[in-house]
Amino acid sequence: MQYPPIMKGFPVLLHGGDYNPEQWLHMKEEIWPRDMELAKAAGINTLSVGIFSWAVLEPREGEYDFSFLDEIMDMLAANGLKAVLATPSGAKPQWMAEKYPETLRVDADRRRRLYGTRHNHCLSSPVYREKICAINAALAERYKDHPALGMWHVSNEYGGECHCPLCQQRFHTWLEKRYGTIDRLNAAWWNTFWSHLYTSFDAVESPSPIGECDNPALSLNWRRFTSDQFRDFYECESAPLKAITPGVPCTANLMATYEGIDYFNLGRALDVSSWDNYPQWTGDARDADVLMDTAFNHDLMRGVGGQKPFMMMESSPSAVNWQPVNRLRRPGILMLQGMQAVAHGSDSVQYFQFRKGRGGTEKYHGAVVDHAGTKETRVYREVSEVGKRLGELSAITGSAPESRIALIYDWENRWALKTAAFGHRNNHRYEATVRAHYCALRGLAYDVDLIDQTCALEGYRVVVGPMTYMLRPGFAERVQRFVADGGVYVGTYISGWVDEDDKCFLGGWPGPLKDVFGLWDEETDALDETQHNHFSWQGKTYRVDDYAALIHARGAEALAQYDENFYRGFPVLTRHAYGKGLAYYIAARTGGDFLRDFFAALLQEQGLRPLVPDLPAGVDCTSRVGSEGRFLFLLNGNPHAVTVCVPSGVREEDGTPVRGQTELQPWEALVVRTDGE
Ligand code: GLA
Ligand code: ZN
Repeated sequence: MQYPPIMKGFPVLLHGGDYNPEQWLHMKEEIWPRDMELAKAAGINTLSVGIFSWAVLEPREGEYDFSFLDEIMDMLAANGLKAVLATPSGAKPQWMAEKYPETLRVDADRRRRLYGTRHNHCLSSPVYREKICAINAALAERYKDHPALGMWHVSNEYGGECHCPLCQQRFHTWLEKRYGTIDRLNAAWWNTFWSHLYTSFDAVESPSPIGECDNPALSLNWRRFTSDQFRDFYECESAPLKAITPGVPCTANLMATYEGIDYFNLGRALDVSSWDNYPQWTGDARDADVLMDTAFNHDLMRGVGGQKPFMMMESSPSAVNWQPVNRLRRPGILMLQGMQAVAHGSDSVQYFQFRKGRGGTEKYHGAVVDHAGTKETRVYREVSEVGKRLGELSAITGSAPESRIALIYDWENRWALKTAAFGHRNNHRYEATVRAHYCALRGLAYDVDLIDQTCALEGYRVVVGPMTYMLRPGFAERVQRFVADGGVYVGTYISGWVDEDDKCFLGGWPGPLKDVFGLWDEETDALDETQHNHFSWQGKTYRVDDYAALIHARGAEALAQYDENFYRGFPVLTRHAYGKGLAYYIAARTGGDFLRDFFAALLQEQGLRPLVPDLPAGVDCTSRVGSEGRFLFLLNGNPHAVTVCVPSGVREEDGTPVRGQTELQPWEALVVRTDGE
């Protein structure tokens, strides 16, 4: 599938990063022209500006001073660079906190914060909304026809929450809209428990360590509300941009699996999804796992943007400064990190940051340009190599993976599971479980789309939904239709327990999914780390950890049974023919060995071919398809060379033929334009 370039008329892979020239105003004659030269020589074509510039752009209330940005935008244009122009809501000026204390956040323990740090504004505050919309409108008016304006970077890494009186009020309105009457809310939340019946919406307080912290339905709805607040705030602050610069795309930089925002919901409001990628590379054998973790994050961020090309908005060109041990990136890792983003559908490789500041907490965070200020650094040279290579790969721009397999990762389900007190009550390991399924599928060299319960299932051959504890409205019906129409659905233990209000389904689990799976899931055993069960399937024995569901086939066929305990002989793996399709149920948590063997057999049976055969461990393999062709990516996350079997094609960068057994050096990223369909 071919998409238009993210920035209109700029059909190349974007390369650049966060740039804070306002920190160098006093040295601008020396620094700014040098920055332009250093950027161009490193193959940089894009810089993100204005992210934390509010105090310089509006030094006093209502008094705008755009002079620094005028100059920078002109310099970018004169040098053929594009601006990812930010709205400054990520950090507010001090005068605002002083004059309007309502803009300061209040913590869950009801203490108002002092001025400081960033991401610390109340999302409900009418003053904050008014101020941000005013400056955003002024920015849009000023730069709407500027040749450097490529896109909008709305705020920075939205996150956190606010418990102030204004937010409580909005929460009440939100609840009233959702439930209509307080009686309905009480019923939905099962509030006769502990005599917690509310008499009005106004009486509902957000969860707090000094108040209600034990009502799962309240916690779930507070998370929904907070997440909706971000979408609402995004829509509010991007409205002037949309109105004044309708053709310029807007994004907000996301943070992979950040818990507080349902990114599938926020993602629907973005023109393009973007995210900040900070893998904790170790420079040793553990990097193979880091590579797979990062692969998941990229695919998730593509998923929340609707599977279109997305942007890696930030990544570190060298050590970060916030890990317990901040290691340098060993040579080769930077290229691998950049190429992996592209491999998973990113049309950009961007860094935090372009130039290191002299002061402040991030002065030792990796940057393209060091305090030494020269081209002679190792990091600058490696960034330049990435820049050169991205230039050679521009035919990839706008292409996208064509996955036949979807894997479900759902924020609301995650929130519901977090408060669910059963089994391993402090951590049901939902995210780890989805990642384990992902690693099995990717490890077999299949492209995978990450979706949530609200996404369409049509078009996929196989959909995998691990631990869908909470079924969101309409999801069970969509699964039924998908399978009836010929799809293959794979579900697991702890599925179909509760509805959207966290109320248990009556009449047996997996609730409304019972028919499609053809079974009844009666009880779930929790095993501690010393306890296991086992089962045999297709001649091999596998171990069960953590969870074992006791299920009864009601139409499904048992493919394997537990070996031990009082539920020995109960089915642990079932298959049910439903309509034209099949539904599988994996009743216990297994290791990656079973998931890999199971999916290998299933996908082969379904006639889905892997991108390459026998992919070695620690290698990430993806593809992108567009009007320019079919591109195959092979990325070695191992500190040793591996051999991969490549279908016939040419290296995209120089046209040299590749075919069959090919050696990948440690951390090498190979990009092949293949001949195949
Ligand atoms: C985040 C922020 C940046 C910077 C980096 C440091 O991603 O968006 O402003 O603080 O972290 O890693
Ligand atoms: Zn607030």
